[in-house]
Amino acid sequence: MSGKDASYEVAVAHFRKLVQEQAERVERISKQAEWLDYSKLPKLVIGVIGGDGIGPIIAKEATRVLKELLKDEVRSGKVEIREIEGLTLERRIKLMQPLPDDVLAEIRKCHVLLKGPTTTPEEGSGMPNIESANIAIRRTFDLFANVRPVRVPSQGIDWIFFRENTEGEYVLGSKGLMVTPEMAMDFKVITKPGAERIIRLAFEHARKTGRKKVTVVTKANVIKTTDGLFLETAKRIAKEFPEIRWDGWYIDVFTAKLIDERRRREFEVVVLPNLYGDIVTDEAAELQGGVGTAGSANIGSRFGMFEAIHGSAPRMITEGRGQYADPLSLMRAAVMLLEHVGMVDRARKLGKALDVCGIYDQKAKITGHPDGATAGQFGDHVISTLADPKLDARWESYQKS
Ligand code: IPM
Ligand code: MG
Repeated sequence: MSGKDASYEVAVAHFRKLVQEQAERVERISKQAEWLDYSKLPKLVIGVIGGDGIGPIIAKEATRVLKELLKDEVRSGKVEIREIEGLTLERRIKLMQPLPDDVLAEIRKCHVLLKGPTTTPEEGSGMPNIESANIAIRRTFDLFANVRPVRVPSQGIDWIFFRENTEGEYVLGSKGLMVTPEMAMDFKVITKPGAERIIRLAFEHARKTGRKKVTVVTKANVIKTTDGLFLETAKRIAKEFPEIRWDGWYIDVFTAKLIDERRRREFEVVVLPNLYGDIVTDEAAELQGGVGTAGSANIGSRFGMFEAIHGSAPRMITEGRGQYADPLSLMRAAVMLLEHVGMVDRARKLGKALDVCGIYDQKAKITGHPDGATAGQFGDHVISTLADPKLDARWESYQKS
């Protein structure tokens, strides 16, 4: 056999293994466990992980706010906020594990997790090419829905993105191969039950919240098989929701329309495969005031992880600006966490305080630089706003103006 033929044989064997693994995953998705009922838990355990880079700085503020809001429940033993150590880049590299076993064991003891960003080494960075801790957590707990709201009230923007979180280009993102030294291949996987569950969640959200429209974003004109399946699935599921309108967009023009001031007001709920969702939600967050302002919920039927949509911003640390990082993203994630576990009143209260501090009043305006507030000052501002008996009235007055 020639050298090339031998390489192709290796590639085919590799592909066969991937196909088998994915077929097993489809089986698992089809047997998805029932949704955990948080209201039935005798005690809710909220894990907190700082992460890398600016992670510990913003996580400290978000945790402070959460402790303040839940102090009665913590005191009475209904809620425990548990800090989990050890998910640092140094440690992950040392152990060559994206999610060290001891950290995973601690996470498993929690019902939900508030997580600061973790650094993902990239190919060619000089660091070992271990997988992202995020992706490992998403996959381990099958957190298939990545929910990302973006709002700019003054511009009529009120979007909620449902990004598929466990498939697409990501699921085999570290299992591609160099077929020959000249040829690299990665793989994209979309499955019917995987597409169904995220699309259905998006439509159900629209139904539950009285939203009128769901937008499905793909590139099904070119990526015909996988995106084609996603779009076909959407068409089928849309029929179960006759009261909700839906439309389909291709990712390229959708990305353009997000900066079309008139058109973008029409989008409400958006559902899309993993990588498109990754890219577009950063763009959307930038319109809201920067990625530092956007939270993200990773939801599965038995567990939820709540985080910022952005990464660990190592540049802010090397440039000595870490303390000026914006903790709003992780505080917004805390709002989603509270909502998810059914503490809707507390979620609403924190949401209002964050609107006041982050959108309207801006007394502690974060710029990411020394001319702005520090994360700690912003945290103080949120805590004092939470204590303001006139918070509701303040927030209402902004809604009218
Ligand atoms: C995100 C991040 C992650 C992703 C990275 C850190 C792996 O960009 O949550 O959007 O690509 O999903
Ligand atoms: Mg991203």
